[in-house]
Amino acid sequence: MTRFANQTVLVTGGSSGIGLAAAKAYANEGARVVITGRDEQALARAQADIGHGAIALRNDAGSVEEAQRLATALQDRDIQLDAIFINAGVAKFAPFADVPESLWDDTFNANVKGPYFQIQALTPLLRAGAAIVINGSINAHTGMPNSSVYAASKAALISLAKTLSAELLPRGARVNVVSPGPITTPLYGKLGLDSATLEATAAAIQGQIPVGRFGTPEELASTVLHLSAKESAFIVGSEIIVDGGMSNL
Ligand SMILES: NC(=O)c1ccc[n+]([C@@H]2O[C@H](COP(=O)([O-])OP(=O)(O)OC[C@H]3O[C@@H](n4cnc5c(N)ncnc54)[C@H](OP(=O)(O)O)[C@@H]3O)[C@@H](O)[C@H]2O)c1
Repeated sequence: MTRFANQTVLVTGGSSGIGLAAAKAYANEGARVVITGRDEQALARAQADIGHGAIALRNDAGSVEEAQRLATALQDRDIQLDAIFINAGVAKFAPFADVPESLWDDTFNANVKGPYFQIQALTPLLRAGAAIVINGSINAHTGMPNSSVYAASKAALISLAKTLSAELLPRGARVNVVSPGPITTPLYGKLGLDSATLEATAAAIQGQIPVGRFGTPEELASTVLHLSAKESAFIVGSEIIVDGGMSNL
């Protein structure tokens, strides 16, 4: 399929995991892809992996100043966007009693404030009919211990998909959320848990997934592309949960 021929798509956090899988899928379907991330070596590796003339730009998704800088960098290249996958995000888990203010600020800056102002800065670059897909999480719907800050940040994104759709629809753009359950990516090594706790957590999570396994980044990417393509033009301000049944069964 070439649903994205002659289109340009931005994937924030496109150097790893779900973002990288989505970037490759967009490129394989004809899109020119722009990816962002902070680690320049990871960006260069991903750029080569995606191929198809992908553009990699170093950018911190947690900075409002850098949000504007990214918009300017795209404008300088005469780039207009047909789709944006707001995917970059951090997951730091800690017991409620131990959460420091810095964990709250880091999480909300990268997961909510940065994305909010990134979408604002990119709005003038959106082509008519553009689609914005935001990466949420089923943690927004479940009461998983130690996830309070992360879960709240993802719940905020689900709200934003509705309000921003209401404001952007007159400009011909729509916003939706894909909410993954547990997906095998490098994210789990970044949770801030020691290896014994991480292993126990992974086993406990796996036991709660009705299909009996973690999902793959590619399984997420297919829903991201669906929400970005014209075929989903009637899906507006919605959320699609991709979690092997974890939050529904
Ligand atoms: N894996 C799961 O089970 C799961 C479940 C639910 C939701 N999600 C969501 O899926 C999204 C992607 O996660 P993943 O699992 O694919 O993790 P990942 O493999 O760790 O990838 C995260 C990507 O985001 C980038 N990133 C992180 N913070 C950034 C920042 N401040 N500025 C720019 N880029 C940043 C990373 O690059 P740099 O580190 O180089 O910046 C990397 O490219 C996140 O929003 C996460 O919350 C994941």
